[in-house]
Amino acid sequence: MMWFWIVAGITVLFGFVVARGAPYVPTRRKLIDKALTDLYPLSDKDVLVDIGSGDGMVLRAAARRGARAIGYELNPVLVVVSKLLSRSSLVSVRLADFWFVTLPLETTIIYTFGDSRDIKKMYHKAEQTASKHKKNLYFMSFGFAVPGKKPLRRDHSFYLYKVKG
Ligand SMILES: C[S@@+](CC[C@H](N)C(=O)[O-])C[C@H]1O[C@@H](n2cnc3c(N)ncnc32)[C@H](O)[C@@H]1O
Repeated sequence: MMWFWIVAGITVLFGFVVARGAPYVPTRRKLIDKALTDLYPLSDKDVLVDIGSGDGMVLRAAARRGARAIGYELNPVLVVVSKLLSRSSLVSVRLADFWFVTLPLETTIIYTFGDSRDIKKMYHKAEQTASKHKKNLYFMSFGFAVPGKKPLRRDHSFYLYKVKG
């Protein structure tokens, strides 16, 4: 009986997220490493924000390049997993719904592995952030192009946009 409740609890935790954004599927390490080298060469001058950070795979890839990395994640299980796997002081993960968060002033690049339903709204959040902070930033999307916006660069399934502040 206890197993039933554990499985039911985990199913609910992973399932309820779908109402707020993309379900959990991690970006593959090899792909993100390539994107953060070729498409947007991330450096220690950058602060990457992953909106919907999953198990923190992208945050760790950013930290390996010396960048600060901040993740927002709705699923508490994934927040705990991220914290256990990401020991670098450059990585921080917050249990939060990113739609309700003001992204940090230092943000230089917003990353998302979102979904077709939300990608336009996510880009709009990047535009709001750039305009609020009055500075340009980059928006990298894995898997989904932003309808009506021309990417600065594209590499396989990654799209990079420059968002004017
Ligand atoms: C496709 S996964 C991508 C995970 C990670 N960014 C990666 O690329 O490996 C999307 C993640 O976003 C989270 N998520 C969805 N909607 C969210 C929201 N409104 N606020 C915070 N996290 C959200 C999900 O729980 C899931 O872990």
